[in-house]
Amino acid sequence: MFSSLYAGNVSATDPGAPYYRPRRLRRTPALRRLTAETRVTPDRLIQPLFLREGITEPREIPSMPGVYQHTRDTLRKAAVDAVNAGVGGLMLFGIPEDKDPRGTGALDPDGVLQVALRDVVAEVGDATVVIGDINLDEYTDHGHTGVLDDSGDVDNDASIELYAQVAVVQAEAGAHVVAPSGMMDGQVRRIREALDQAGHQSVAVLGYSAKYASHFYGPFRDAVESSLRGDRKSYQQNPGNIRESLREVELDVAEGADMVMVKPALAYLDIVRLIADHVHVPVSAYQVSGEYAMVEAAAAKGWIDREHIIDEILTSIHRAGASQIITYWATEVAQRLGR
Ligand code: PBG
Repeated sequence: MFSSLYAGNVSATDPGAPYYRPRRLRRTPALRRLTAETRVTPDRLIQPLFLREGITEPREIPSMPGVYQHTRDTLRKAAVDAVNAGVGGLMLFGIPEDKDPRGTGALDPDGVLQVALRDVVAEVGDATVVIGDINLDEYTDHGHTGVLDDSGDVDNDASIELYAQVAVVQAEAGAHVVAPSGMMDGQVRRIREALDQAGHQSVAVLGYSAKYASHFYGPFRDAVESSLRGDRKSYQQNPGNIRESLREVELDVAEGADMVMVKPALAYLDIVRLIADHVHVPVSAYQVSGEYAMVEAAAAKGWIDREHIIDEILTSIHRAGASQIITYWATEVAQRLGR
């Protein structure tokens, strides 16, 4: 085929052939820019932010240097900084002062996450997308993502009833999107029903659809002062499984998820690619706390080039097919991209 195009005098595998020189397009910055296939832009980055009830100064999370448990004031400021940098979305988490077996703080219209949502929406309005995490694990004294039955197992159907109530209070507090992260069966359907019944048809659902039982969440559990002992293997997925992610994502889309998520990101890029090829809704990837901590720790040792590593990883996640990336570096990277 090539030989007919090129008058029969060269071979497609001859590195000296005139057409066989990919380096031509890498020669100058302008050529590289023109031919770049993947570019991370601020608008696809989502910044997670934590509001901690009952503190008067922000607290840095020890295993996530540079990430804070915010006060109401510093949360507002962090939201404004993110918006000014052009960040596409904010994912809010609340850390209550008191925990109980049923995670009641998650349902309280004046609970910490609802306060955070109201403050942030009042501050930045529709200038970015404000997302609430639906879960009970920050609020339960046992640290599980739902309520327990008599035998101590997480009770699926009782938990999704509570998620449905959480979704409605978050929508009422101004969330544009709610993101159920509990991995309970049927959670998206139940949340969609509850939102619609309460008149919140336009609030979107971002399913944490393919969420693995990962040790990369370790530092997050510090961040939210999780009281979990044990693990989440009876509801989060086995890291070795692929087909299970397809099933979870198909179910979430059928149940009405407007967007789906793969989590964690870097160790699961094959899953991101598979899901992106498979569904026709936006696919988000969550670059989780352990991914953040590893880079920060190695950078603090001077072992890696921090900024370039961050950019390379985010580019890789986007290249794998994620249209949104949830990352603790969102504001920083957006600021850098805007310079
Ligand atoms: C659940 C939730 C978790 C994360 C986001 N939402 C923790 C978990 O499932 O144990 C992890 C995020 C991260 O590690 O950065 N509320």
